[in-house]
Amino acid sequence: SKDVSADLAHVLYTKEEIQAKIEELAARIDADYVGRDILVVGVLKGAVMVMADLVRALHSHVTMDWMAVSSYGSGTQSSGVVRILKDLDTDLLGKDVLIVEDIIDSGLTLSWLLANLHSRGPASVEICTLLRKPEAAKVEIDVKYVGMEIPNEFVVGYGLDFDEKYRNLDFIGTLAPHIYE
Ligand code: PRP
Ligand code: MN
Ligand code: MG
Repeated sequence: SKDVSADLAHVLYTKEEIQAKIEELAARIDADYVGRDILVVGVLKGAVMVMADLVRALHSHVTMDWMAVSSYGSGTQSSGVVRILKDLDTDLLGKDVLIVEDIIDSGLTLSWLLANLHSRGPASVEICTLLRKPEAAKVEIDVKYVGMEIPNEFVVGYGLDFDEKYRNLDFIGTLAPHIYE
């Protein structure tokens, strides 16, 4: 079949740019968590690539766990009403939790997730996201670690999907209009 990269309009961030940003985030996180173990929580499925690269760039002691959540409601827009498809295996009591996301769009998923995880008695909860769309925010969330802020455009690759596709690209780009029109 045709190379998937043929479906892309522009490359937003190359593999090298993403890896450099991940290294930067990891260095900041290591500096902030000196002497503390980190429970890194990846939000399936988008966060898999960031998670895999971030934890390998960290020097801190980490354990990993995963959550899968789904927004109720229509189509591609997040509704803010979230249901848990896969919960954590780990008890959060007293843990330093770092949520890892690929992107914060409206912020509704994360806003719900934050409240949910906070209710479980962790010592701390912080967020690390590779991408953030400030213009799309419907709720303000305090995010400690942000890789890049991007315009309100539909992006795919490096975990980000369109109709479950393009997650496997090692770069981030915008889709060619003929794909979604
Ligand atoms: C995407 C993305 C974030 C969320 C951000 O996940 O990976 O988790 O949407 O949107 P929000 O800030 O508007 O809530 P999606 O629900 O598409 O699931 P996926 O990770 O499996 O692709
Ligand atoms: Mn996601
Ligand atoms: Mg998605």
